[in-house]
Formats: sequence, structure tokens, C-alpha cells
Amino acid sequence: MPARKIIIDTDPGQDDAVAILLALASPEEIDLLGITTVAGNVPLALTSRNARMVCELAGRPDVAVYAGCDRPLRHRLVTAEHVHGKTGLDGPDLPEPQMPLADGHAVDFIIDTLRRQPAGTVTLCPLGPLTNIATAFEKAPDVAARVQEIVLMGGAYFEVGNITPAAEFNIYVDPEAADIVMKSGCDITIVPLDVTHKALVTQSRNDAFRALGSPVGIAVAQMTDFFERFDKEKYGSAGAPLHDPCVTAFVLRPDLFSGRHINVEIETGSPLTRGMTVADWWGVTDRSPNATFLGDVEADGLFALLTERLARL
Ligand code: BDR
Ligand code: CA
Repeated sequence: MPARKIIIDTDPGQDDAVAILLALASPEEIDLLGITTVAGNVPLALTSRNARMVCELAGRPDVAVYAGCDRPLRHRLVTAEHVHGKTGLDGPDLPEPQMPLADGHAVDFIIDTLRRQPAGTVTLCPLGPLTNIATAFEKAPDVAARVQEIVLMGGAYFEVGNITPAAEFNIYVDPEAADIVMKSGCDITIVPLDVTHKALVTQSRNDAFRALGSPVGIAVAQMTDFFERFDKEKYGSAGAPLHDPCVTAFVLRPDLFSGRHINVEIETGSPLTRGMTVADWWGVTDRSPNATFLGDVEADGLFALLTERLARL
């Protein structure tokens, strides 16, 4: 099988960083066409910086990183420094990136790539707010039909919300963009909090990253050390949920995950529940299914995959 062509759309974020590293560690299965950055966990200048730092950490300064939208479609930007730290990538002491950003806007890169590559051969992997993807679909209405699949981290049903009582961060930051994506007609797989809260970096899993002894293994362990304090305090959990790497892992090993093909709508109106993913998990409406909403992951398999792949970098 030829490697699957993907674009990672991201707002690094420690967990975004690990998702990127997993992709870069898997060249036989994943052909990373480029990385597009978006404002989310921290403002765009920092997510664009962090994405390049991660590429350089992996020894891949050749990866094209395009800066994208610096704010959501309609609302002011909400960031998550309280989770990810001031830089978005607090934890390891990584050097400032030397590689430049690629010329051009991320949205144009997404559009051009989808038009240039044969239809149905490019998968989009959004790990942050969906502003870039929605903007591409609005600007170039022909490209959604050319997408192979969208595998995104966002939303929740059983876990409901993490940034508000009702909403998960990525969807909450730009619900209008999420709504456009959900109505795009693309083949969509959603990795919600229901899954990522089962993928916890326990002490022994983080020790395994650190024990790799490589700059990548040590940096990932340090990122997790930083990132986990928030979730441990909030949920009393055994470690940080590894949200975004579940997207890359799903591309590599869909057999590790299970879910349901259901209808998912985004709340854009109510100030109380804005950004809620209204997922018809129990099939109580006659609304048509528009996404595969994952519900479970085989966590030991996920961490075995991750550790084995990070060891390659
Ligand atoms: C999502 O929000 C961000 O903080 C993480 O990077 C992840 O993409 C989890 O809600
Ligand atoms: Ca993210």
C-alpha cells in the first residue's frame, strides 16, 4: 500500500506535537504533505513557531509549515495557556526554530493541494479549531468533494465538555467552522474526549518515552510532565489525556478504535452550550449520519504503537 497522503492542521500544543512526531515517525504509512497552523491553544505566531520546533526536533526541517487563520470565523479567539503554558509548548527546553515558514497562506495550500492531487487521495487531520478547513471549503467549494477523509480531534458526548460544561475546546473556539465542516459532505471521523480521556499517559507510559533516551523521547516525556498537571488536578486522573496523537494513530491503526456512524450537529446559537457536539449516539433522531464518532480505544496498543514509533526518530 502506498503511504497515505495527509495534511496536519494544528495548534501546537504538547499533544499536537506528539501527533506530528508520530506522523513523521511513520513514513511508510504516512506521507505528510504539509503542516498548516491555526490559532487555538495559543495565538497563531506561537502555533506556527511550535510546529517548526517540532519538525526540527524530529530532524525534519524540510517539512512545509504554512501559517493559517489567526482568529475564528466569527468570535474572538479563546486560548488555553492554562493547559499548555505561555508558549503552548512548555515543558522541554527546545531551541527557537531556524526553518522558515513556507510561503503562502495555509488555506491556499489546503485548496491547491486538494486540487493538485487526484481526488479522494488526501486526508485532512485537524488537531485544533477548524477555521482553516472551513475557510478553505468556503473559499473553494469544489475541494470538499476531493477530500479522502477528515480525521479530527474534537467534541465529546459522554464527557460533554472540557473548556465549558458543554463544549470541547477545539469545537468551542470556532463552532461556526466546525458546523461548516460537519455539513461538508466529507467522510468524517471524530476523535472526541470520550476516546482521548481513555488514552492517559500514566507514569509508566511516560517513563517508557523517557527511557528511549533520545532527544525526541525525552522531550515528549517533558511535554507530558508539564501538560499532565492540569488534568491530574482537574479530573484526579492518572495522567494527561493524549488527545491529538489519537488522530495520527487512527490513520495508522484504525483497528485500535471503535465507534458509531451517527449524526453529529454543532451548537452555534446558544451562549450556554455554544460549541457542543450534539451526537446522536443512541440513534434517537431521524437525522442522517454524517460522521463516525469514536467511543473507545485500546489504550495499551496505542501507547505501544507510539513508543515503538517515537523510538525511530
Ligand atoms: C484539544 O484541545 C487542545 O487543548 C488540545 O491540543 C486538543 O487538540 C482537546 O480538547
Ligand atoms: Ca490541538
